[in-house]
Amino acid sequence: MDIIETENKHTSGLYTKQPIIMVRGQGASLWDEDGVEYIDCAAGHGVANLGHAHPKVAAAIAEQSTQLVTLFETFYNDKRAALMDKITSLVPGLERVFFCNSGTEAVEAALKFARLSTGRKNVIAAMRGFHGRTMGALSATFNKKYKEAFEPLVPGFSHVAYNNIETLDAAVTDQVAGVILEAVQGEGGVYPADPAYLQAARRICTERGVLLILDEIQAGLGRTGRLFAFQHSGITPDIVCVAKSLAGGLPMGAVLFGESVKNLAPGLHGSTFGGNPLACAAALAALTVIEDEDLPGQAVAKGAYLMEELRSIDSPLIREVRGLGLMIGIELKQKVAPYLQALQDRHIIALNAGLTTIRLLPPLVITHEQIDRVVAALNEVLH
Ligand SMILES: Cc1ncc(COP(=O)(O)O)c(C=O)c1O
Repeated sequence: MDIIETENKHTSGLYTKQPIIMVRGQGASLWDEDGVEYIDCAAGHGVANLGHAHPKVAAAIAEQSTQLVTLFETFYNDKRAALMDKITSLVPGLERVFFCNSGTEAVEAALKFARLSTGRKNVIAAMRGFHGRTMGALSATFNKKYKEAFEPLVPGFSHVAYNNIETLDAAVTDQVAGVILEAVQGEGGVYPADPAYLQAARRICTERGVLLILDEIQAGLGRTGRLFAFQHSGITPDIVCVAKSLAGGLPMGAVLFGESVKNLAPGLHGSTFGGNPLACAAALAALTVIEDEDLPGQAVAKGAYLMEELRSIDSPLIREVRGLGLMIGIELKQKVAPYLQALQDRHIIALNAGLTTIRLLPPLVITHEQIDRVVAALNEVLH
């Protein structure tokens, strides 16, 4: 079978394909079918924080798959209970959790919980924000290119300038159920929130009985140097959405929340696969690895090193290098597509964030030697 031909024949058409057949991953490396190694600074769009094929996650999945893969949340389960206990211990004040299977589903649930808890309809989100592609999450997403073809979307959503306290203050009225923000905007161009902005958002929401929802789907679980990116600001949101690397690469999302989320009753929301023991076992292993290997600490040290190296690239093409931990954007003065291709030709996989920013989201276990190879390739490509 010709793999590329077969996929091209049957693919939905929704993805831009690269003519490379990846068959294996280990740490921050991917290998194609000819055994050519690539350094993966995309990590499946920020999923592989622990690296590919982490042995502890692999062992947990293998073991659990022989015990019990699926179980609706009506029945109790050892792995689910252990994961609930573990994940809620990570954010003091948020003691409850809803499990689902992806980022957009976590956002969808958070939006429903905000409406249910407050009895209000409106949601404030940020310009440049990205929250997913189902109708609710898409309504919270800013960029028209994802939305226009699918209108009408959910009513009640509006967008304010990110990192601007005044416009947020003016937008949050007593009609607002929730404010949803990324603590570091990912797809929108890698823009970290000012701690003062998130602190003001917390104060404004508390004053007006509005739920503050933080979307940690891309920035969370160690990537920015703290377990959650909002922890750089010292606040506690009402709701936290997590997904991507939560189960070490298996699909899983989670919504963490505390006392301010009310009125959740049996049957009002749910998920067939949510909280299945296989994903729970994988997530339990992944969270243990994040702690045992101090992945947030690794993101701090390696992020600082990578950022310094990138800032020392003296290229007239670079407008700005910004980010937090190992979530880094290199904004160019022109479109990045040809530079991403040139990097790929040098066996470095990176992402864009918008048209003009190269985004690096490597596994947090990337080695210094691999970082040096990434910087050397960027140095070449940007000259
Ligand atoms: C901040 C943020 N929220 C939500 C999502 C949607 O996640 P998923 O693709 O798992 O639905 C993404 C995906 O890139 C994201 O980066």
